[in-house]
Order: sequence, then structure tokens, then C-alpha cells
Amino acid sequence: MSEKELDIISQYNEVKRANMDKIVLFKIGAFYEIIGNDAIKIAPILNLKETSKKYRGQMFPMCGFPVGAQSEYVRRLLENGFSIVIVNEKEISGKVKQKRERFVSDIVTPSISHLQEEFSYSQNSSYIASIGMLNKNAAILFIDISVGESFIEYCLPNRDSLMKKLFLYEAKEVLIKDDFPVNIDIFGINVIRISNSMICENDCIQNINGVQNLTHSEKMLFWQVLCYIENINPDVKFSINSIEKRYNHNQIYIPTSTILNLNIASDKIRNNNTLFYLLNKTLTPMGARMLKSILTQPKQININERLDIIEYLIRKEDLMNDIAQNLRNIYDFDRLIFRLINKTPNKNDFIKFIQSIYHSVELINVLLLERLFISEINIASSYGKQIFQEISSIIPYSDNIEFQDYDIPLDKIKAISDIIRDNIVLIKKISNFIGVIDTLYSLSFCSKENNWVRPQIIENDEIYIKNGYHPIYKSLFSDTKVVENDYISDKKNRTFIITGTNMSGKSLYLKQVGLICFMSQIGCYVPCSEMKIGKLSAIISRIGGFDAMEDGKSTFYVELEEIADMIYHADDNSLCLIDELGRGASFEDGLEISTKVLVHLHKYAKTRVLCSSHIYQITELEGKISGITNYHFKANINIHGTLEFTYLLEKGTAKQSILKEIARIAGIPEFFWNQDNIADNEDMKS
Ligand SMILES: Nc1ncnc2c1ncn2[C@@H]1O[C@H](COP(=O)(O)OP(=O)(O)OP(=O)(O)O)[C@@H](O)[C@H]1O
Ligand SMILES: [Mg+2]
Repeated sequence: MSEKELDIISQYNEVKRANMDKIVLFKIGAFYEIIGNDAIKIAPILNLKETSKKYRGQMFPMCGFPVGAQSEYVRRLLENGFSIVIVNEKEISGKVKQKRERFVSDIVTPSISHLQEEFSYSQNSSYIASIGMLNKNAAILFIDISVGESFIEYCLPNRDSLMKKLFLYEAKEVLIKDDFPVNIDIFGINVIRISNSMICENDCIQNINGVQNLTHSEKMLFWQVLCYIENINPDVKFSINSIEKRYNHNQIYIPTSTILNLNIASDKIRNNNTLFYLLNKTLTPMGARMLKSILTQPKQININERLDIIEYLIRKEDLMNDIAQNLRNIYDFDRLIFRLINKTPNKNDFIKFIQSIYHSVELINVLLLERLFISEINIASSYGKQIFQEISSIIPYSDNIEFQDYDIPLDKIKAISDIIRDNIVLIKKISNFIGVIDTLYSLSFCSKENNWVRPQIIENDEIYIKNGYHPIYKSLFSDTKVVENDYISDKKNRTFIITGTNMSGKSLYLKQVGLICFMSQIGCYVPCSEMKIGKLSAIISRIGGFDAMEDGKSTFYVELEEIADMIYHADDNSLCLIDELGRGASFEDGLEISTKVLVHLHKYAKTRVLCSSHIYQITELEGKISGITNYHFKANINIHGTLEFTYLLEKGTAKQSILKEIARIAGIPEFFWNQDNIADNEDMKS
């Protein structure tokens, strides 16, 4: 074995041993090589050819890419949740011949990567999730150090509830104590275990707004993050402005499972399947992040105030064009600040900053001329103008400046960075304002593009949806005819029991009512021809769909947990969606639990319920309790012997099982039904 081979493998092993949870990119000549299990893991993800190489007489799997392609591959690895160690090499001259020494030049994780523009892989939030126990619940601190955002969420301390939260916010790095009782190892999420002895309880979090209200266990979540970052890169600096405890006091109660089941913000297979994807016409990273947070954590807002702005914007096409023109030239203020306080910005960042501040002021001026009420505008206007003036005194602004070709001398760069550093708080306020405007622009653009209508916000508890349709389904299958349906619920008609054969349209209908109501609550136009609705306190669903995550628990148990949540939170101002309760139970258990739940929600919680079911006996509640009404979706067998669905919601109960007709269409032969079910006597005797 050559000296050189020995050298490489021992250097590699040394780095890998210290970084077991990261992918090691090992520079050998003009390539970065990935060796061993790392290669097996990532070759398919990066579309690299997996080969093998012989070291010390042993074959190792490996793959690699040219050094010039580094940033592209690093970004793809980060996007997939991997943390990376980059090992570079330098020549050192030995006594006899040149030798190569390798050294760790960079450790990049999904949250820290935004320090370098070339590795900044996404404009979305990049959260670290720090998890701990808080009494009998789990608490998760989500923190994005690159935009200075943090909040704490609470959930049951089981794998299912935790996974849903991590999935919703797309956390890629998860920190837990090494004795944390729940196993949450899953592909695409880097779980880092931290031992008690590593954590240092220090005061440096005292300056964060809201930290005074945190318990010791909640502060521990911060210390876990500090300990983790310190370990990766002790020089990283970040500033967090405030910490929000999300207990849902001033929010509409929408549990994470509902946000996932209604495809509001995250889809584990395709991301074009979500309401976020449909609504996201934002033109800045600040806008996209704000829209996502409105969808994942909808706050109680003055709905009409937001709708007024959207209506105004929809009517004024020229104004929309002016807004878009300015937004397109505004870059990520937050991440620029992150790079600046870490002294890693490049010239491009400064040029983008000047351009962004100029266009922010332009945008504010355009908006000030309009008769629009946007609460943050006056603050943003005075701060924006102040910073713009300071910068103009260094680089005089000219209207037709070509920023791409612009070269700023070093002393001016220094002067501008001083201005930014002195005004971080103000710039964050401008950045927040741009997020607000961009979100309003996006909602208006979508509402107009899709011909949605303004919901009428009323004081009573009626919900009236005329000709509603599922907005995501319609946009995904634009060449399919989508059948529109009404949903009209008032005091007399609060609980809908919906029957119908498989594939007849029950689930889609439930989800569409949920989504339309949700959209109205965030102040967006809605996909129907007319809508009236009041303020809702909660939208809660029990819809299957995340069963893969529920391993280790029976489907029925998860159903019951979600029903418990529904019983706890539903009131006369909420909407409950139940898709086939009791699927995982025996018929008798299914009927009993469905009946009890419906009676409770209807009679005692006095909430609105839409419940689909294959248990036809449940429809007997109609007539026994006033306000419960049966609806159904029809299926007909046409003259060619194929099933036809109308997808039209009608009053009454569906024709009971057409199992045999469906089975015949699926190819099950007629004789199958005539065979004896009872064991043959001859077989029993033997
Ligand atoms: N209103 C509609 N317009 C057009 N197509 C529809 C409509 N509703 C449902 N469909 C089509 O029918 C398919 C099945 O609908 P859905 O999943 O709602 O059925 P289901 O009654 O819940 O079935 P199951 O009982 O098997 O769960 C949808 O994927 C869609 O392709
Ligand atoms: Mg269904």
C-alpha cells in the first residue's frame, strides 16, 4: 500500500469520526470525493454514479463531483437536510517531496449555510428545532438564525405529534437531549443529541424580547441551540428580536394535523399540491416567509380590513404593476443583515441592499399616494427615507443606475456597512413592511387570476357557500370538469352526515369546505360564486392521510387522539370535519364512537360538523335530533356497465353498498359470489 493511500484514509477517518452525523466532502485533486456509507446515502440524491475505490486493500463505495460544481452540490445536499463538512487540501513542502495536507475548511448545516451567499440554498425559513419536555408536554423552539425569527410551539410528547410539527415547519436540524424519551429519527431530518454536560446556561439570551416570560425548561431550548451552534462554528453571531409563545390565544385554533390534511402548507410528496403553492405569487423572500406564517399560524385579524385592501388592489391594475415592479428589485434584507453581522457579505450584497432600499422607498411613495389603510406604512416610510438619505450621501443615487455593472470602492462599502449596522432594528421594520405588502400583493394577484370572490363577513353564525370548489384540485387538474357544490349551514342545519360509495367525492367536498372557510379567515378571496361567514374560532379535522407517520400506534388510537382534541376545542363558532371515523375499528365500535362524537359535537358543543361515513346506520340520527341532516353523493351504473359519479351533493342517504357492481367492474367474476363461505365438512374432519 502506498504512503499516499494510507495518508488519505487515515485523514478521512479522523474527520469522519468527529462528524458522524454529517456528510464529508473530501477534496482529492480536482474532485470532491464522498466515501463509504455517505456515498451510498447521497449518490442517488445527487444523481451521482456510485463507484468503488480500493484503499488498504479494501474496497470502499464512493462518488464525487468536480471542485467547480461545489456550491451547486452543497446547496442540493442542504436542501435535502444534510449537514456537510468540507475538507480542502493544501500543498506543504516536505524534505523529500511535496505533500498534501488536508484540513476542515467549512462546516455547513442547513441553518448556518446562509452565512455564505453561494450556499444559501433557499429563500424560505431554515429552522433549527430544539425540543424538550415541559411538564407532560413537549415544547419545540423553532429558530431561524439567518432571519432572526423564533417561536415556541407545544404538543403531545409522542412521535406522531412531534413529526407533524417538524414537518409543517420543514425543520431540517433537530436538537434533543440524549435521554429524550421519544424516537424521532427520520430521513431528511438531522437529529442531533445533546448531553446535559455540554449545555451552558448563560445570560446571552437576556436581550431577546419576551425571554422574561420563559420558564427554565423553555430557556433550556435556547441553550441547546447555542451549544449546538457553538460546536459547529463558535464565531457565528445572530440576533433574535423576539420570542413568541404560540399557545393559540390570539389565533384561530387550527391544529397541525388540519393544516397538513387540508394541504394548507406542506405536502410530504409534492409541494405543488398545497394552498401555499397556489397562493404564493410573492416576489420577495420576506413576502414568501410571511405568507407561509399566515398559513401555518393564522392570527385573528380584522378580516374586512384586509379584504378592503385586496379589493382596492384588484381594481387598480396600474397600481399592482407599480408594486410588482418595485418588489422585483427588493432582495433579502434579513439574510443580508445576518451576513453583515458575521462579516461575510460580498460586494453583490451591498449593491442589492442599495437597490432594495431605493425600491422600498419608491414602493412606499407609490402607496402613500393611494387611499389605503396599511398600519405599518408611516413607520416604514420615515425609516426608509432616513436610511436612503444616509446612503445617498455616500453613493449619490441616479434614476437609471445600472447596479449590475456598479463597482463600489472599499471605503464606501465600509461606510454603508456602518449605516446598516447602526440601523438594524429599523431595517428589520422595513423588511417586515415589505413582507406585508408582498403578501397582500400575492393574495390580490391570486384572487384576481382565479376569479375568486370577496367573502361577506357577517355577525351571525351562518355559513353560506354557493358553487364552491376545491381550489388546489381545480388548479392541478385544469382540464377536468370540476363539479361545484354549495354548503349552507345555519342554526337549523348544523351537522351534515354525508354518505356515498367509494370515490364519489366525499373527502374532496369536506376538504373544499374546510379550505374555503380557512381562506376567508385569513382575509383572502374565495373559490365560489358567493360566500357569507362570520369569524371562526377553530377549524378542526379528523381526516386520514398521515398514516405512514403513525407507526407504532394503531390508526384507531390516532383517530381517538384527534377526536379528543376536537371535543376539547370545538365550540359554537368552530367547524369540525370528520372523514370516516372508526375506519380502524370493528363495525360496532365504529358506530358507537361515531354516534357519540356526533351527538356531543352537535348537541353539547353546538358546533358545525361535516362527517362522511360508510356506516349507514349513523344516518338514523336525522329526525331524532333536530339540525342533523343527511346528504349523499350518487353513483350510477351506466348502460355500458361502468360506474358514473355525479359529484353533486344531494339531500338524503346514499343507496347502500353497490359493492358487487364495483367488484364486477374491477374484474371479480360472478362465480366468486356464489361460493360457500362456510368451511367444508370434509376439511374439518381431516
Ligand atoms: N366535485 C368534483 N368534481 C370533479 N371531480 C371530483 C369531485 N369530487 C371528487 N372528484 C373526483 O373523485 C375522486 C374521488 O373523490 P374522493 O376522494 O372525495 O372520494 P370519496 O367519496 O372520499 O371516496 P372514499 O370513500 O374511497 O374515500 C377525486 O380524486 C376526484 O378525482
Ligand atoms: Mg374519502
